[in-house]
Order: sequence, then structure tokens, then C-alpha cells
Amino acid sequence: MARGLGGIVAAALMASVVSAAVEPPSTVVTALPLATAQNSPLLVSADMRGGIDLSGPWHYSIDPFRAGLAGFHGETPDLGQRRYLDIDVAKEMASDNRAMYEFNLDHAPLTVLPSSWLTAAPEMRHYQGLVWYQRHFDVPASRHGRLFLRFGAANYSAYVFLNGKPVGRHEGGFTPFAFEVTGLLRDGDNQITVGVDSQATPATVPPPVTDWENYGGLTRQVRLVETPDTFVDDAWVRLTRDGQIAADVHLNGPAAAKKTVRLRIGELGVDIPGTTDAQGNWHGAIAAPAALVRWSPDRPKLYDVAVDAGEDHWKDRIGFRTIEVRGTDILLNGKPIFLRGISLHEEEIGAAPTRAITPASARALLGEIKDGLHGNYVRLAHYPHSELMTRTADELGLLVWSEVPVYWMIAWDNPATLATARNMLAENILRDRNRASIAIWSVANETPVTDARNSFLRTLVADARRLDDTRLISAALLVDHGKGPGAPVMTLADPLAEAVDVLALNTYNGWYTADRLSDLPATRWNVPTDKPLVFSEFGADALAGFHKPQKFSEDYQADYYRATLAMADKLPTLRGMSPWILKDFRSPRRQNPDFQMGWNRKGLISETGVRKMAFYVLSDYYQAKDKAAAAR
Ligand code: GCU
Repeated sequence: MARGLGGIVAAALMASVVSAAVEPPSTVVTALPLATAQNSPLLVSADMRGGIDLSGPWHYSIDPFRAGLAGFHGETPDLGQRRYLDIDVAKEMASDNRAMYEFNLDHAPLTVLPSSWLTAAPEMRHYQGLVWYQRHFDVPASRHGRLFLRFGAANYSAYVFLNGKPVGRHEGGFTPFAFEVTGLLRDGDNQITVGVDSQATPATVPPPVTDWENYGGLTRQVRLVETPDTFVDDAWVRLTRDGQIAADVHLNGPAAAKKTVRLRIGELGVDIPGTTDAQGNWHGAIAAPAALVRWSPDRPKLYDVAVDAGEDHWKDRIGFRTIEVRGTDILLNGKPIFLRGISLHEEEIGAAPTRAITPASARALLGEIKDGLHGNYVRLAHYPHSELMTRTADELGLLVWSEVPVYWMIAWDNPATLATARNMLAENILRDRNRASIAIWSVANETPVTDARNSFLRTLVADARRLDDTRLISAALLVDHGKGPGAPVMTLADPLAEAVDVLALNTYNGWYTADRLSDLPATRWNVPTDKPLVFSEFGADALAGFHKPQKFSEDYQADYYRATLAMADKLPTLRGMSPWILKDFRSPRRQNPDFQMGWNRKGLISETGVRKMAFYVLSDYYQAKDKAAAAR
């Protein structure tokens, strides 16, 4: 710029920097190690560990041209642009008139984290790109053991610095990551700077075009987590399908090898001693005690589980249950179950959501499903939701479909995109495989059938099976819509169908098609009948309070539900559904000024929680199904 570069060059520069936002463009980014499930601490059940919560006011500053990451020739940025420097800018410039900095986060606006910057200020409402966050925090000199910066999530790319030093980076907006900072912390005041870039590109997961708001920012908790020198980094404790309580434990630290460990479930009298191998791993199993109360939506029993390893006492609250498929049935604890569900985006009820889920907002959303709709299941779409949500599902008793955002148009041929998707899936499964509520891992939503896509998704299916042999695998598939005499003919022609345990279909007949609602019950379905079928989506928009015999009215939505449920009742292998969607949610794709105004209105409740007519259609349907099941 100083040398008078024209708009075109700037645009080219912008283009190169944008794509660099994901591929490491600058020395600043390449100097930051990339955190992945393979190479970083997992700190499983970190929310149960002590530490310092860094929630609260943080300074933030936009950096639209990523000047803090690269100079205008892509070189290392000038000192004057390095937002992560550990300096007092005002003091420096006041004490030396040669000093010049083009930032000062100490004087930048404040926002309360966790939240998305979309709600930080009116001018931020549609900002997509790089934002620098910074705050100071105190660390007691009395600290001991090891300390980790743990992020619940940062949407999309994150660049982390502590006291001016590079710590690491992460890609993916919905899964946790952590860095050890024991050696970087100082007694008393510390300064953390995090650059978060929400820019999606053709190479990212998800890609730029989705049907939900791209909430940029630090949308989940940032904590400084404390552990002993050697600690339980991963522990997976579950009930196996052959009735064993099994545990796999991995220790991290200098004394991880040949270490005595102990799995305890006090309430059940379970106390299994063991010794880790040379890699710090231990596997133990015993027959489940007769007194075990299995977790189910009707009885969401959780047990306090502990793993002791020297000074470390890992703990979690875990429910024990089995989930499997037998023929066309889904079996929970050996008994057939119908999944009475609804889909949900990670967006709290309210007129100006900021994707900051709290225990209360998770309970408000899931409680509406459990108590309002008489549901026993929720599809958390289209990405891993906060661990607060899955813990709340454990406590309330809702089975969960958990998904990674492999959504619509993914760069199937791009190895970097595949690596990102595989890492997201691994981070998701490793974070939540102790959650009894999670029944299904989904690897994709509405993706086009191509060879590249098929092998991409088969790789993810294989990864999920390798990481977790106790749950079901699925993906939300599209069905070909045809016209038969007087009713639609739906045909599934997707080779991925044979790779999954549960066949999940999205259908919008009567909303995105011109089918008459009265024709829906006669729909013919050409789908495999050798495994359980679920409707992962169906739905229709309705503006709360709008009543007219036309689309976007509550009346049409209610009629649509009646017709679709009547159709569903005719499908002999149907074992569940998660209609689209519990609550109206923000979507840049929805701009009808009379009905949508930037919201997808397929919710059964409005964005502020107002129940629509169709809410009661589904609630009555589920109540009847629940009663019928109880009577069997
Ligand atoms: C799709 C998609 C959703 C979307 C919905 C809709 O099926 O999976 O993400 O919001 O349809 O069109 O409302």
C-alpha cells in the first residue's frame, strides 16, 4: 500500500491471503504447530478437571486483510502489525517517538466470551474473516504440575500466542483442542492472544455455502487446565455388547509406562487394578455387575467413574447401555426402540443468538424435545455441538445423532480436506465416546454421489468404526424424487447405503416439491429394506403467527406434518425420525422479506421459543407412539 499498490493487486493479495487463511501462507502461521487428535493432548473430560476459566471480557480487533499474519508481499508482518506481541503499546510509543504500532488491543473494544463476534457490535453482524482476541490473566506462583490451554471450539481457524510466544494453531470450528503451556506461563500476569479466522474456502469443512449462520469466534470456553506431571489423558469406559464393563486408558507424562492404575465405580463396587504398558496404555474389563442400571431415555442413570493413576484422579459421569442393529431394528439395551426425535442447530433460543451454549440454554432446548415433544432422540446438526449439550442429553435422557460438517459441496479430491475431516471426526469421537446419549456417529449430510465422495466417506466410516465399535454409523442421504401415478416415487441410489448401519434419508416432498400433501401418504419408497431406516430430515417453513392456506403459514406446516407422518407410518422399516427442525435458525440463504428475514423458518418453535401449530402435531404423534411402545 505504502508503495501505492492498486485495487487489483490488493484483490489478488486478498485472494492469496484468503486461501492462505487455511493453507499456512505466512511464516507466522507455519511457526505454529497444528493441533490434531493424533499429536495433541486430548484431556478427555477436561471439564471435570480443575483450572482457570478464561471466560469473560476479552479485547477484540478485526484484521480483514490479515496484516497480523503476513505483510503485503506475504512476508513476515512488520512489528507494527503483530497483534500478539507481549508489549504495552501505549507505553512503548509514549516512551520512544520512533516506535509505531498499528494496533493496540489493550484499547480495543471488549466482548464477553464465549460468544460469536457477530453479536459483539452492530458493525460485526456480517463480518467474516480474521479477528484477534486478547486478555490478561493471573497465574498463581503456587501452581504445580502441568498446565494446558484448552479450547472448547474456535470457528474456524485459530492461531494461539501466549506472552508473545507462538503456541499453536487449529483448524475446524466445532471440536476441542489443547496446548501445553507449562513452560510459557509466568507468575502473576500473563497475556493470551488468539487470532480466529472464520473464512471458509472450497477446501474447508464445511465449505463456504451452508444453510446456517457462520458464527465466527471463540464460541466455547477457553480454560487453563491443570494436571499432575503424569495424568490420564484419555479414558474410555463403556458397556460392551457382550455385557462387559470395559476401559481403555492412556496416560500422558514421564511416569506413564508400567504405572499402576485403578478403575473405580464406587456405586457398583467395581474396582479394577491394572498396570500400563510401555506406551502408557491399559485395557481392563469385567462382567457388568448384576446391579447395573442401564442408561436409557426413560431412566438416564449415570455413575461416577474414576481412574486413579498415581497423583491423578480422572473422573466422569457415565451411563452404561448398549446400542446395536438387528435386521431392521435398532436395539437399545437389547430392546427395539423407535427414535422419536427432532433436529437441532447449536443456537440458543432468543432474537439475537450468538452460539454461546450454557447449561441453562442446553436444558431449555433439549427440555423442549423431552417434555414438550415427548421425544427420546435429537439430531445435533450438522457439526459437533458443545459438550454441554451432549452432557445435558446424558442427564435428561435423549439419544443423540452426532455429526461432522461434511456438508453439501466438499472438495472430495483434496487430500488436505480429507485430513481435516478425518481429524474433526476423531476429535469429536474422542471427546464424546463416554457419552451414553450418543447412539449414532454421522459422517456427512446431503452429499452428491461421486467416486471421490464415496471413497472420502468410506474412509470416514472406517475411521469411526476403528475409534468406536460400540455405536452405529450413518450419514444423511438424498433420495431421487420421481413421479408415479398420483404419488411420488422415491428411490435411493446411493452406494454409501451399504456402508452404514442406519439408513438415513432427507425428504422434503410437499415443500421443495410441488407434490400435493394429500399425495404424500401414497408415496412409494424404493429403498433397501435390510437395515433400519430413519428420516434424518423433513420439514416446512412457517412464520410464527402467520395463518393463511399457503406455504410459510403455520397451517400449511401443520398439514405438511400430518401428511408426512401418515406417509411415515406406511414404511415398514422406519425406526425413527428427526424432522427439520426444533427452532427457527439464522441462515444467510433465507431472505424472503415477508417470512424469513435471514432465518430458516422450519422450526416447530420460533427463534424466541413460540410453539407453532405443527409442534403439537408432532408432540401428539410421539406421545401416541410412546404409549403404544409402553403397552407392547
Ligand atoms: C437440507 C439441509 C439443511 C437445511 C434444510 C432446509 O436438507 O440438510 O441443512 O437447512 O435442508 O432446506 O431447510
